[in-house]
Amino acid sequence: MFLRASGITVAGLALSAALPSFAGEVEVLHWWTSGGEARSVSELKKTMLQKGDTWKDYAIAGGGGDNAMTALKTRVVSGKAPTAAQIKGPQIQEWGKEGTLANINAVAEAGNWDKVLPPVVADIMKYKGNYVAVPVNIHRVNWLWINPEALKRAGATVPVTMDDFFAAADKLKAAGIQPLAHGGQPWQDATLFESIALGVGGADFYRKAFAQLDPVALAGPTMVRVFEAMQRVKGYIDKGAAGRDWNLATAMVINGKAGMQFTGDWAKGEFTAANKQPGKDYLCVAAPGTGGSFTYNIDSLAMFVQKDKAAQTSQAHLAEAVMSPAFQEAFSLSKGSIPARVDVPMTKFDDCARKSAADLQTSLKANALLPSFAHKMAMSSAAEGAVTDVISQFMNSNMTPQKAAERIAKAARTK
Ligand code: BGC
Repeated sequence: MFLRASGITVAGLALSAALPSFAGEVEVLHWWTSGGEARSVSELKKTMLQKGDTWKDYAIAGGGGDNAMTALKTRVVSGKAPTAAQIKGPQIQEWGKEGTLANINAVAEAGNWDKVLPPVVADIMKYKGNYVAVPVNIHRVNWLWINPEALKRAGATVPVTMDDFFAAADKLKAAGIQPLAHGGQPWQDATLFESIALGVGGADFYRKAFAQLDPVALAGPTMVRVFEAMQRVKGYIDKGAAGRDWNLATAMVINGKAGMQFTGDWAKGEFTAANKQPGKDYLCVAAPGTGGSFTYNIDSLAMFVQKDKAAQTSQAHLAEAVMSPAFQEAFSLSKGSIPARVDVPMTKFDDCARKSAADLQTSLKANALLPSFAHKMAMSSAAEGAVTDVISQFMNSNMTPQKAAERIAKAARTK
């Protein structure tokens, strides 16, 4: 460990939370630019200003973060790494291998992170056993967001299974309401696809195919059935979906233009920003057929090596601030997620967040807690990019389900 019994290492000292503060600047790269997301980032800015640091926003628009990751690479290559960047899952390991990430064990030990984070979260934040990233929250991806009024007008009921979903979508269509709100961007196609795959194939299939990259599961008959279901789902998406941002799709559900949307609970940040109440103005239910499962997407800020002392101190402040129970609560209340720390009470949270917290526990026990590959939690960036390309090509062409299954199996082998 970094903080050894025999003493504190030099880098450990620089990051130690116990040191007096030297106010400095923190520059944070993220892609939180929609209305609900921007409100959430302002919580972080506020917390840093309270600590006496200055905040430099490095926001790169584009849901799912692909644009942000491209910008980050250019920045780091030119020797100007930010203090921290929103980097997730296996990509933290990829950056760790480049030798660009800072060891923040001193802050982690002072804050008892190993005790207050679930192991599934803590493991992702470490490179070679050392903390290099801070978890911000936990998003659940396998949700279906519903406008109850639209469903009522169409005489449809809340879908629990995939068959229910198709029945509800048909009724909405017949009532002249767009059944599904969607944005035709590759990461949104992948987000929709992974929930359909889980609904059609179940947790074991999902794990084998997308976490273990098992070639048999990837190319087999279940995958063909998943693409067949996707083909049907395509029929419920409007022509205007091409290129549409996710928050504009959510707005269609908010204002009743569409009945449902498959997306993660960052959507709740938009409903909240629009003053809508869960259970009344909108419903959050598990994506059809995925009730016992939980696809997780953990937002985290990876810390980049800083040369000067003031920058290291501000970085330590940032790590400390993000992990503070008060920030974890405030951020998730506006973001739609749940805190990553296990000791933050859920008393101020709404029913959707409480359901998320409860379902996380249930799915953990049932071995149905699964990494979201569409949100960079399951695969290398190369494999994830190639798999997402196949899904988006399927969405935008007449590719057959059989062909798509063959191609996705090949894409998953991309190194
Ligand atoms: C991130 C969320 C974000 C969403 C839409 C996801 O990958 O984890 O924090 O709100 O993309 O931009």
